[in-house]
Amino acid sequence: MEVFRVRGGSALNGRTTVSGAKNAALPIFAATLLSEETSILENIPNLSDIRFMAEILRHIGSEVEQIDDTTWEITPAAIEHRAPYELVRKMRASICLLGPLVGRLRKANIPLPGGCVIGQRPIDLHLKALSKLGAKATIRGGNVCIDATDLRGGSIFLGGRQGSTVTGTANALMAAVLAPGFTRIESAACEPEILDLCRMLQGMGARIDGIGSHVLSIEGVDKLSGCRHKVIPDRIEAGTYCIAAAITDGEIYVEGARSEHLGAFADKMDQAGVELTSNGPNCLVARRKSDGLRSLEIITLPYPGFPTDLQAQACALSCISPGLSILTERIYPNRFMHVPEMLRMGANISIEGSSAIVRGDTRLSGAPVMASDLRASAALILAGLAAQGDTWIQRIYHLDRGYDRFDEKLRMLGGDIERLSESELPKSVQQENIS
Ligand code: EPZ
Repeated sequence: MEVFRVRGGSALNGRTTVSGAKNAALPIFAATLLSEETSILENIPNLSDIRFMAEILRHIGSEVEQIDDTTWEITPAAIEHRAPYELVRKMRASICLLGPLVGRLRKANIPLPGGCVIGQRPIDLHLKALSKLGAKATIRGGNVCIDATDLRGGSIFLGGRQGSTVTGTANALMAAVLAPGFTRIESAACEPEILDLCRMLQGMGARIDGIGSHVLSIEGVDKLSGCRHKVIPDRIEAGTYCIAAAITDGEIYVEGARSEHLGAFADKMDQAGVELTSNGPNCLVARRKSDGLRSLEIITLPYPGFPTDLQAQACALSCISPGLSILTERIYPNRFMHVPEMLRMGANISIEGSSAIVRGDTRLSGAPVMASDLRASAALILAGLAAQGDTWIQRIYHLDRGYDRFDEKLRMLGGDIERLSESELPKSVQQENIS
């Protein structure tokens, strides 16, 4: 296993380029199953989750080839309707196979996604959407089995306890595009990743109206063709670099970042004393404001609200901002696994229900910490870059799932971060692991 050693104290300065969006690329990989023809996908990030998804598509019969660092060619000429547990259990996003298998084959048999550290990951809304299209779902032996012989258009309301569902909207769309008749999806997610999926489906010949709104109208077609599609840049990666600039008091040109994808994030950064300015249509410049950082109050919400995937990173920033910050999770109320690790670094945070109360102005000090999920990993690295001394981060495979060459890009910006083997952990840390 590998670990990161992060040495704090250097300001990050320079240019970095955002990779393609993981949360657009994963449903888009699944959507290629809707046609037996070849699709070419461009600007695909170099992530372990992408390689998992490619493996699953191969397992069900697709030909999947990586053409170059960011381009993949997928030909699902003959596929079967079931996916293997040992692959699916590794990645929640494999639930996105449901929609295309139902649309193309009228049946699916997918292992239920396990929970994960950020909280329960139910799929009740996914199954509700498919049932409104005439599909019959049963749970057998940990698998969700769908019979959609009578698939037809229908009216779906996708609002749940925490608002809409991103991958649930993707599944409803991917089943509806091949369902005879009209489908209306109300309270659909309108994250930029869903818009990107809609554009790709239109490129395959799907008929979709209302793109970008919470109401999507789909006219089912008999067949879809292959397509060539370039995936949008990753807004969560872009936001992470903006916070990296602020937390180290540097200045980063984030190439590829689209300000129109940032929603409430840009507004909240402005309040937090982080200046984001455009440097051309696809480049953001992030730095601290001249009068310095300020405390922040955020509530995570569906797009265009503050993204839950940037909450942990904002929490790291609030540790060094003056005053009291309050970060409330409305999407995943328990998404605070990064907090105990930041406390080890000297942060002053208490959890009250689904809120983290952060007393800022603390001087973080390096410490051995454990990554627990993708975004917590990034947050701990940001905290380490702002801390005094060395921070050793273990279980960094979480990070590699969703950040493309994060440590390499940080080094290019002047960050002192090294990817090492676990055996190079200080003896004291290795002792601590054993005890
Ligand atoms: C997507 O997950 C993202 N993953 C997540 O990013 C992101 O945090 C999340 O959307 C919210 O923005 C991908 O796109 C692959 P949801 P998804 O269904 O679709 C509840 C990352 O770090 N819900 O929008 O699984 C659910 O419990 C990952 O990149 C139901 O109640 O999230 C949650 O509270 C983490 N019933 C809320 O809705 C359902 O059937 C939002 O979940 C489905 C969801």
